[in-house]
Amino acid sequence: MSLLVFLATGFSNLCCDPTASCLAARTMEASDAEPMNTEITPPTSRRRRKKSMVWEHFTIETISGSCTRACCKLCKQTFAYSNGSKVAGTSHLKRHIALGSCPKIKNLEKQQLALTSDTKADGDTIEPTKRRYRTSSFGYAFDQEQSCTYLAKMIIVHEYPLHMVEHPAFLSFVQSIQPRFKMNDVNAMEGEVLSVYHKEKLNLMQVLGTLPGRISLTIGLWTTSQTLGYICLSGQYIDLDWKLHRRMLNFMMVASPHSENALSEVISVSLSDWNMKTKLFTITLDNNCSSHDIYSANLRDHLSNKNTLVLKGQLFVVRCYANILNVVAQDVIASIHGIVYNIRESVKFVKASPAREEKFSEIALQIGIPGTKALSLDVTTLWNTTYIMLDAALEYKEAFTFLETCDDNYNEAPSADDWKKVEVVCTYLKLLYESANTVMVTIDQTANIFFQEAWKIQLELTNATSSQDLMVSSIAKEMHEKFDKYWKDCSLVLALAVVMDPRFKMKLVEFSFSKIYGEDSARYVKVVNDSIHELYLEYVMQPLPLTPAYIDQGEASHVNGNDNNPHTTPNPMGDGLLDFDIFLSETAVNQATKSELDQYLEESLVPRIHGFDILNWWKLNNLKYPILSKMAKDILAIPVSIVGTGCSIFGSGTGSRVLDEYRSSLRPETVEALFCAKDWLQYLPTFTESPSTMFAKLEF
Ligand SMILES: *[C@@H]1O[C@H](CO)[C@@H](O)[C@H](O)[C@H]1NC(C)=O
Ligand SMILES: *[C@@H]1O[C@H](CO)[C@@H](O)[C@H](O)[C@H]1NC(C)=O
Ligand SMILES: *[C@@H]1O[C@H](CO)[C@@H](O)[C@H](O)[C@H]1NC(C)=O
Ligand SMILES: *[C@@H]1O[C@H](CO)[C@@H](O)[C@H](O)[C@H]1NC(C)=O
Ligand SMILES: *[C@@H]1O[C@H](CO)[C@@H](O)[C@H](O)[C@H]1NC(C)=O
Repeated sequence: MSLLVFLATGFSNLCCDPTASCLAARTMEASDAEPMNTEITPPTSRRRRKKSMVWEHFTIETISGSCTRACCKLCKQTFAYSNGSKVAGTSHLKRHIALGSCPKIKNLEKQQLALTSDTKADGDTIEPTKRRYRTSSFGYAFDQEQSCTYLAKMIIVHEYPLHMVEHPAFLSFVQSIQPRFKMNDVNAMEGEVLSVYHKEKLNLMQVLGTLPGRISLTIGLWTTSQTLGYICLSGQYIDLDWKLHRRMLNFMMVASPHSENALSEVISVSLSDWNMKTKLFTITLDNNCSSHDIYSANLRDHLSNKNTLVLKGQLFVVRCYANILNVVAQDVIASIHGIVYNIRESVKFVKASPAREEKFSEIALQIGIPGTKALSLDVTTLWNTTYIMLDAALEYKEAFTFLETCDDNYNEAPSADDWKKVEVVCTYLKLLYESANTVMVTIDQTANIFFQEAWKIQLELTNATSSQDLMVSSIAKEMHEKFDKYWKDCSLVLALAVVMDPRFKMKLVEFSFSKIYGEDSARYVKVVNDSIHELYLEYVMQPLPLTPAYIDQGEASHVNGNDNNPHTTPNPMGDGLLDFDIFLSETAVNQATKSELDQYLEESLVPRIHGFDILNWWKLNNLKYPILSKMAKDILAIPVSIVGTGCSIFGSGTGSRVLDEYRSSLRPETVEALFCAKDWLQYLPTFTESPSTMFAKLEF
């Protein structure tokens, strides 16, 4: 008996299906509860059931008493199974899956066929024999080409080395699964990777070809161990459905990435590569402060005559927000590095043994420290961990001081003055830390979210520089200097973006500027107000400069209906209401016509409800503000932070990253294919859905 139960459980573990394990668990419960019964009854159908592989596809449902039906896991159709003592057997169930009468399996097969034919140069020529083989074995068939494609995708997505195709252990693993699989050599595998890349590139190109608005780029620098450079370009855009996307476009090698024109050349090449020369809106760099001005002037010079830049290029070059947070945070941590070192050593000392930790918490308890925070060590490359370490240590400062007096082995305790410094630093690091966290947890990082982050920091730091406390003002001055430069460079872009947020419009700009600039604020508000009006006029003058060949119905009719549009043409379709139009235009003469922008700005603010979706708001108001919504689309798509998925916003390496040895040794085209295809494949449904049991192990 127990052997049978063991077999059943063992079996269901093999097929990692929750319902199957559930069944097995029930079997076990039942046999535990009624040992007599199970011993007497001959092996029941329940156990025999498990022997057939069809149970990967069916579950048993009890209809009433001993009458059960088999339910297809895929299409949910049910079939007679057992009726009292009579068991129907499984052949009709097999037929259901094997002969393709299950609609879901048919669909899956179609998808599979589509996948295989996609990878073939000549499209849909699949030999009938192949097709028959496929269906006769539950939709599973070995297909050399398709398996190769999967292997290439696996190498791309998981960053496995191309040379894994020569790794003996991997080879024997593959042989054990499918002896007929012929493993590619490294070169052929490289070709396979390139073909995955080219196929995905075509798909993305089609998407970008129908973009309703413009695209903004982010630029990241990578270096190799041989000091060659790679420039990584990603594009961020909002699609027809008002969804924000970011896709890697190119990963190109440049001999000297820091040279004058390298960047602008790469950008030009990339834009023509993707057929988007007229679509460029802004460029976001993650350079540090010192080199930003040089880069941006250069880029403006080189690219401005080739592109129609908005606002004479004032918006053109944006600096990465995460990068400025990192620079400021790391500088201020570095400014007290001696103290940080002592604190790190102190924490290490306390955490060295459980006995010490216990002693330390006793001391803390006696002194009356609440002990809400836990001491932790930092990872020096992630400044959030350093902040957390300092912040926690600060709470125990008296305990450290006390420990020094009673433990001769410990003499790293910071002085009272040092602790004061740490306290001030933590006060301002906290601002950066919280801001970075807010940005990090925001999924759709539309440009409007950054203004609220930046102005608070600017205000606090500005305020602190004039503090009476010399220590506060000197630390704040250092931090403020860098941040102020960022604010000067980027506050206009950030402000324009927040104006496009119907919850704030000009109001938040007016409010925050009055705090930051005091009496001067009107002047700064005017700059934003003038810019937004100027920008709007540019969109009015060229109502649809970049629209693809088609315009969707709603937009077209509304552009025609807009009073402010100098290109207004009568409805070409002629809806028989010409008289009405004349009537309208005559009666409207006296009413001052307001631009969409002024209408928008004058309307009351949208309430700040939790979970407000700005892109959805614009999508819904697309018809009301046909021109303004285009402008909003471009502005909101500006990538203000360059940190992409998978990178840490707290990492020191947002400035430039280093390519590992293996990738540095590959040909540049291959490196580009690996990086870009990895980025693109993550958005394909294939890699987010759990693999279907379809292609699992169905052999009778
Ligand atoms: C068993 O099936 C027969 C028809 O195949 C049906 O007439 C009978 O009612 C069923 N018995 C039970 C207990 O469901
Ligand atoms: C900033 O850039 C300059 C020149 O590009 C470089 O020398 C400097 O080390 C960089 N500073 C930081 C903090 O990355
Ligand atoms: C500015 O600093 C002063 C003290 O220096 C403080 O009282 C005030 O609350 C600060 N204002 C803001 C907005 O932080
Ligand atoms: C913004 O500018 C427009 C005209 O350019 C003007 O009518 C409006 O009053 C200004 N608004 C603010 C808040 O300055
Ligand atoms: C620091 O940031 C990284 C990712 O950016 C995160 O994984 C880690 O948990 C953070 N550490 C702390 C202590 O917040």
